[in-house]
Amino acid sequence: MMTGGLFLCREEEIAEGEAKGFGPLGSYRRKIIVLRHQGALRAWLDSCPHYSTGTPMAWKTDAYLNGEGTHLACHSHGALFDMDTGECVIGPCLGQQLTPVSIAVTPAGEIFAEDLREEKAE
Ligand code: FES
Repeated sequence: MMTGGLFLCREEEIAEGEAKGFGPLGSYRRKIIVLRHQGALRAWLDSCPHYSTGTPMAWKTDAYLNGEGTHLACHSHGALFDMDTGECVIGPCLGQQLTPVSIAVTPAGEIFAEDLREEKAE
């Protein structure tokens, strides 16, 4: 259960077929990509699995999709990722996955990401 969390944006800021990056926030080392695909909001870490260090994927602000808008794209070496599963379907990291980020939308339409620091605090 997410308590608190990191504010990303308002729900209406992410239109259908659109992806935007926020942060880095809290203990996340990279931005958090929020996208809306077929009505569903999903969030992924802006960290391409091609290299273990996790490369930022956009070549300019919020350029997270391929030209056709069908996949998330890493513009370093052209990897394409399924927008719903985060799996690399074309490219050098074939079969590897983006890291999902848990998000929640409040009744007021605010999108929050899970705060990893809260989770680790015991
Ligand atoms: S760093 Fe993403 S495809 Fe190479």
